[in-house]
Amino acid sequence: MSALPVAAPSRRPKLKAVPGSGEAEDPTSKGGRFTAWLFVVLVVVLFSGGLFGYDQGVISGALTGIKTAFALSPFLVEVVTSWVTLGALVGALVAGELTDRLGRRRSVLIAAALFIFGAGIQAYAPVTVVLVCGRFIIGLGVGVASVAAPLYSAELAPAAWRGRFVSAYQLAITVGIFLAYLLGGALSSTADWRIMLGAAGVPGLLLLGIGLIAPESPRWLMKMHRREDARTQMAKIEPSEDCEGALNAIAAALNRESKTASRGAVLNAEWRRPLLIGLGLAIFQQITGINAIIYYADQIFGSAGFLTEASRTTATTWAIGAVNVLATFIAIAYIDGVGRRVLLLVGMIGMTVSLVVVGVAFQLIKQAGPALANAGPSVAGIVTLAGLVVFIISFAFSLGPVTWTMINEIFPGRIRGRGVAICTAVNWASAYLVSQFFLTLVDAIGSSLTFGLFAVFSVIGWIWVYVYVPETKGFTLEEVQDLWKETGK
Ligand code: BGC
Repeated sequence: MSALPVAAPSRRPKLKAVPGSGEAEDPTSKGGRFTAWLFVVLVVVLFSGGLFGYDQGVISGALTGIKTAFALSPFLVEVVTSWVTLGALVGALVAGELTDRLGRRRSVLIAAALFIFGAGIQAYAPVTVVLVCGRFIIGLGVGVASVAAPLYSAELAPAAWRGRFVSAYQLAITVGIFLAYLLGGALSSTADWRIMLGAAGVPGLLLLGIGLIAPESPRWLMKMHRREDARTQMAKIEPSEDCEGALNAIAAALNRESKTASRGAVLNAEWRRPLLIGLGLAIFQQITGINAIIYYADQIFGSAGFLTEASRTTATTWAIGAVNVLATFIAIAYIDGVGRRVLLLVGMIGMTVSLVVVGVAFQLIKQAGPALANAGPSVAGIVTLAGLVVFIISFAFSLGPVTWTMINEIFPGRIRGRGVAICTAVNWASAYLVSQFFLTLVDAIGSSLTFGLFAVFSVIGWIWVYVYVPETKGFTLEEVQDLWKETGK
């Protein structure tokens, strides 16, 4: 492979792309052939992301049946809804240790086992407390998978395809959410919630099966001083490439990092910049409102004048669920071409504008008063729908996939697992806070100002990305580390 990584955009502050020293001997991992083993890696990533999305999206359709079955109080409704997210938060934190100690592939297997176990418990739960335990266990699986799977794909994908591989994970999340919406619409009888929640066990089993034959990450094996095993796996994944050159580059990068990576090493000043970039992306991805819309789309459409349940379900399933899936293909097409930064900067402008439009539309709906309540979707209601569609499209090709891609490529090998775990856990914590307080915020300050607040966060996020986040497309994971050296953090 002759081409050096393309330099980051010229207006990127203070950053100048200098290929890493590994470039000359690291012709592998830049591009290459799409082998059967890379396909296996992709399947692992797709199932993990799909389960993440499905388990996140399924509760909105299942809740009515659960409420009837267990006569839940509003507090318990919140617990049943949110304990998957809490489980995911804990799972993501634990996954740092798991992925570093046991390996990326075994962590995916643990996640699969948790999916199967959690789905089974939920499907057969005789009482609320058992159901909540099942929700928490499946949440642990979601959390472990949300660290292990993108990390696994980032380490195994050739550099030139890495963005696409991790975006495939985001694509799978969106497909999972969409399927959950579809199933929620199709299975509406009160007893069907057990099928909806138990259904996650099937892809869980498939993930377990594929995970058993999948290759381990050569980068993790190198970190564990298992060069022979790393060579075997690498030769399997990319047989046409120069394994020795690639392994030398990985070894050189590991040697440049401090020898001992203690538990707290990820907090060292040396790695402050990647950590802040990872945390910033994780937080901005959530505080700009995506999950307020994913979880509460029905209610948002309700207040925008979509009066019947059927019209709300259709709007949610297609305008949010399907659009989210389709727009992710934009990221897959462009993330390794135009790069992460351009997608982020363009997408976040779309997000900001659409949030402002939705905010204004809600103000108009409020001013129109109760007359609107019985009149069906008004112009303002339709504008709200259009605004949300633009928001979803903009998110789906920017902050959605780019956050996961960058979190998984910015950390040096020795601390990658822990770094990814901390950022992912912070992402889950932010998701939890937004989904927990969205309705309260709407009650306190109204829909219009709430969306205005998301828009303000989006503007701040845009400025921060412009000033602080470098381009990483085309670099090997080892070369990405040179960015932090050049800028002196
Ligand atoms: C986010 C999720 C969100 C999903 C929506 C993901 O990147 O992490 O919180 O629900 O995108 O597509």
